Amino acid sequence: MEIVIRPDATTAGKLGAEAIVALLQRKPEAVLGLATGSSPLAIYDELAARHDAGEVSFAQARGFTLDEYVGLPAEHPETYHNVIRRDFVNRVDFAPDAVHGPDGLADDIPAFCASYEAAIAAAGGVDLQILGIGTDGHIGFNEPGSSLASRTRIKTLTKQTRVDNARFFGGDIDQVPTHCITQGLGTIMSARHIVLVASGTAKAEAVHHLAEGSVSALWPATILQHHPHVTVLLDEAAASRLQLGSYYRETYAAKPAWQGL
Ligand code: GLP
Repeated sequence: MEIVIRPDATTAGKLGAEAIVALLQRKPEAVLGLATGSSPLAIYDELAARHDAGEVSFAQARGFTLDEYVGLPAEHPETYHNVIRRDFVNRVDFAPDAVHGPDGLADDIPAFCASYEAAIAAAGGVDLQILGIGTDGHIGFNEPGSSLASRTRIKTLTKQTRVDNARFFGGDIDQVPTHCITQGLGTIMSARHIVLVASGTAKAEAVHHLAEGSVSALWPATILQHHPHVTVLLDEAAASRLQLGSYYRETYAAKPAWQGL
């Protein structure tokens, strides 16, 4: 796991965007794993700017999103289907229908989840997965207690996550759905490269566990310690509880410029 600490979220996001641009240069048809939430916004802003400047194209790329609320009407602005289009997909040149996500209105949710796994596999698997992290250490919507080998399935959201996400629902926790469909931890672990971004002190404890804690279902992101290629992009605040912070800084400072993430 490579830990990169930058002064602010924008600078960290630029590094994440650079990894995606480099991937698309060597593999234009790459499969991207897309995450919603505020954490990846700096990456998406930079990618949109570089697309506008003619530096990167997503015309042949495909995407799979991590998760979706169950039961929100399709036109609701906070479905992750709509959020990822607003935040990223519609700002660049993905082909129509190149980006897929879980169907939170599926009649047969287990059958849908199996078909979503099959679609990711049929696309050749995810080349680069973008991730945020919840304050309780969740990735996607894999809440504490999730099986470390889980695949796409329905989950019950924790109170903490519903409190955290109430800001997108007018501050009213009762408007936040109680269930979601999420790629499992095993699904996420199948991606070839994982880029996790976190900023702010609210994420500092989860980031400490992610990088330095014991692998445990209590902090689901800790499963990433078992992945061979994970990059963690942090601002100073999110890095503030890392025990080995100076080591990570020295390591990154000494890294040759030609070596990407
Ligand atoms: C949400 C999403 C996650 C996201 C996390 C953090 O509930 N399901 O994919 O990474 O919580 O969100 P944010 O980046 O807005 O802090």
